[in-house]
Amino acid sequence: MGRFDGKVVIVTGAGRGQGAEEARMFAEEGATVVLGDVIDDEGRAVAAEIGGQATYVHLDVSSEADWANAVATATGLGPLKVLVNNAGIIRPAAIEDTSLEDYLSVINVNQVGTFLGMRSVVGPMRDAGGGAIVNISSIDGMRGSNGLISYAASKWATRGMTKVAAMEFGLFNVRVNSIHPGGVNTIMGNPMQMKELETGPYQMQPIQRIGESREIGAAVLFLASDEASYITGTELVVDGGTTTGRLEPGLPGGGTVAGYGYNV
Ligand SMILES: NC(=O)c1ccc[n+]([C@@H]2O[C@H](COP(=O)([O-])OP(=O)(O)OC[C@H]3O[C@@H](n4cnc5c(N)ncnc54)[C@H](O)[C@@H]3O)[C@@H](O)[C@H]2O)c1
Repeated sequence: MGRFDGKVVIVTGAGRGQGAEEARMFAEEGATVVLGDVIDDEGRAVAAEIGGQATYVHLDVSSEADWANAVATATGLGPLKVLVNNAGIIRPAAIEDTSLEDYLSVINVNQVGTFLGMRSVVGPMRDAGGGAIVNISSIDGMRGSNGLISYAASKWATRGMTKVAAMEFGLFNVRVNSIHPGGVNTIMGNPMQMKELETGPYQMQPIQRIGESREIGAAVLFLASDEASYITGTELVVDGGTTTGRLEPGLPGGGTVAGYGYNV
């Protein structure tokens, strides 16, 4: 008996990284999963690996027509109960060096894509008696981040839009929450997949390593499941404690950074 038996789930950006892992995890819990992405070969391969419970659709989240097609595919498979707005891109650059075109390209995927996703599924979810939407924001939607003007704007917007949707959709028994990952070991979070980048940059946070996709997925599945039936409009930070504070070397918990040590 799985937590998502008999339910149809759409995961965007499911061709690799966190989205692919989340699609696998939903399937393990009994869901019928629709994987959407723009990297069709990778997306089809993930769906094939999952097996009969999975269907891949080409879904550019900034395209209204693609959303219509994805939702038609999903509702043809059963009651659409979950959407994970996971697709995302990042274009680091100084504000002065960010062209309008680059800025809007990020907004179109991360922000407009999330808006279109929520707008596209709310009707079918209402018809299915309710559902859950999980929007993937970031810790860059919780704080300032130099070099990430477009990405941070889109992730703050995702956090805010989540709350608007939670207010509007509660009446339909549709819950909407956001997740805020810290560094995650994917192409986005560790582009060259370098071993030393799994720990080196994380020495100042309580859990001194990068996060893994499955650790974000566990939070996504929780918020999407009936276990979270009274949770809506909230934000769940999954970041190894990095937004909690910065470890001070030489003080308790601060450990061994750069030759410092706290001896008791
Ligand atoms: N990796 C991190 O450190 C990190 C941290 C915080 C938040 N996030 C967020 O997590 C989500 C997943 O990222 P990831 O770490 O798996 O990175 P990733 O780059 O491996 O995966 C992103 C996926 O989104 C897809 N995508 C890009 N444009 C798309 C579009 N227009 N339509 C549909 N799909 C599109 C890509 O093809 C890719 O499969 C993103 O929203 C990202 O912003 C990532």
